[in-house]
Amino acid sequence: MCGIVGHLGPSNSVDVVLEGLRRLEYRGYDSAGVSFINNDDKLLVYKKEGKIANLEAELEGKDIHARSCIGHTRWATHGGVTDYNAHPHVSTKDGIAMVHNGIIENASEIREELKGQGIYFESETDSETFLGLLIYHKRQGTPIREAIVKSFERIEGFSAFVVLNRETDEIFAIKKGAPLVCGSNEVNSEVFVSSDPYALAGMATRIYFPEDGVLCHLSVKNNQLLNFYELSGEKCHRYMSKEQTIDHDPASKGDFEHYMLKEIYEQPELIRSLTQYYFQGEGKESLEEATKLPMKAVNISACGTAFYAGLVIKDYIESKNRVRCFADIASEFRYRNPILDKEELAMFISQSGETADTLAAQSMCKEKGLKSLSIVNTEGSTLYRDCDVNLMIRAGVEIGVASTKAFTQQVLTGKTLSEVLAHGGIDDELRNTLASRYSLLAERVEQLLDNTKPIKDVADAIYKHKGFFYTGRGAYFPIAMEGALKLKEIAYVHAEGYASGELKHGPIALIDEEKVNVALVGEELFEKTVSNIQEIKARKGLIVSIGPKNRYELKEVSDHYIELDFEGLGDLAPLYVNVVNQLLAYYIAKNLGTDIDKPRNLAKSVTVE
Ligand code: F6R
Repeated sequence: MCGIVGHLGPSNSVDVVLEGLRRLEYRGYDSAGVSFINNDDKLLVYKKEGKIANLEAELEGKDIHARSCIGHTRWATHGGVTDYNAHPHVSTKDGIAMVHNGIIENASEIREELKGQGIYFESETDSETFLGLLIYHKRQGTPIREAIVKSFERIEGFSAFVVLNRETDEIFAIKKGAPLVCGSNEVNSEVFVSSDPYALAGMATRIYFPEDGVLCHLSVKNNQLLNFYELSGEKCHRYMSKEQTIDHDPASKGDFEHYMLKEIYEQPELIRSLTQYYFQGEGKESLEEATKLPMKAVNISACGTAFYAGLVIKDYIESKNRVRCFADIASEFRYRNPILDKEELAMFISQSGETADTLAAQSMCKEKGLKSLSIVNTEGSTLYRDCDVNLMIRAGVEIGVASTKAFTQQVLTGKTLSEVLAHGGIDDELRNTLASRYSLLAERVEQLLDNTKPIKDVADAIYKHKGFFYTGRGAYFPIAMEGALKLKEIAYVHAEGYASGELKHGPIALIDEEKVNVALVGEELFEKTVSNIQEIKARKGLIVSIGPKNRYELKEVSDHYIELDFEGLGDLAPLYVNVVNQLLAYYIAKNLGTDIDKPRNLAKSVTVE
């Protein structure tokens, strides 16, 4: 949610920052802007409503050379989507530019106070109050570093700030509960700051994850590069540092029209690689550690797609391990004063590892003395650093805002843990069993991806309908909710996910010939699920069933029947069905001409509550 990039060094900083912003655009695309110091020592700012392309068009043809620059891509919280609400917020008079990610909860109070001190505000954003504080302190004669500390101490809420100071040609960055990373490339004498290490891939050779309240100082004068300070001013080492390992291939969309489609197609290979990682590779140690965690009961919390993955994992753990398992939406869990016990495990699922509500849920569980386990994609993220044990899902960078491959990998990682627990440990026998089961799933998904025509045909036939009800029983219920979420997100049509038996308790009133029931049908409770479909059919709803092949019952009741080979898949079949849902949503959205990779109003990483 909002992307920040900053750079100091010999290459043209504006180009570096724009490249970083392009990679962070998934974090918000309401507006974008850059502020930089040019060769004439002037502090300039360009910012534009809409996607980065608008900002690039504005910069086109201008002869810009900058040795330092900060930039921002915005997901609006306070203040409308306009040029003047775009970041960076700048005072050329005071020589300060700043960008912000997060929410300043006491912004109104600070704004009123500063107005009384003669500080003028140009935007409606909460972010600009931080600039107001900086200006106020600077005008009192406070040096920039102390001005940042004093301003930061006034702020309530979770935020990350990056400040560019013209006079000293330095960048400062500081955060509380929001993502922020620094990077360096000593060979090129360059330093960077960003919301996500991915923005710095191929540029920074080393990445630093500062803790909350650490003031990061970036300067290329006297080769100082990167230094970290406590608010009191002493140098500190409160950060984690590692080599930059993320690859960035700028042409990474390859022949695919969208990142989402590319990510859907990456799934077979990712599914296959998981057992190697957990049974023979780096993941083995953490998987072993995970099995030793207290597990009288398991409390899962997550948001959105990750929550639906949690529901499927709950199903695995309860049925396979007979351990009581609760799955909660993190934004509810954190406030509902749940009954928790130190002998229970707290499990958090997140692609980004930066979702504000999930982090708050983790910190609550930690306070109550529970051990925490993450199922996470982003190494070094806040969740990764805060949990006792981390199980990496190994999905690689996910750019499409609608999550696809991360869901599959989250579920399979949870499944792997459940299998190891049930088996009583990691050994070759289990490795071989799981490797062959996951390979079979990968093979079926591959077959599906090799011939998507039946799914495209269904999408062509139904995309103009006025409402979609995805239904399923057991593990297919969360898959139904996930399928509906995908469709809502990328096609902007109304869709709901329901338990098959639940529609008749109310929602069936909405069924008519304009509505579609996407019925997910497993082998278990097959007849009961078909009966539920009949109930919709009787009310003239259009039926798209996705289920086991060659079933005359489904042929009879369905307007469209996507036949799948479930043979041998067992409890992995819901993941196979989920790929059909991903493709169906994708092709419906394509027919409707929406922005598939960057759907309106969304951002990939939700770092505000
Ligand atoms: C939907 C989607 C979101 C995320 C949710 C949690 O396609 O991507 O619902 O799943 O915002 O994000 P993470 O997994 O980063 O915690």
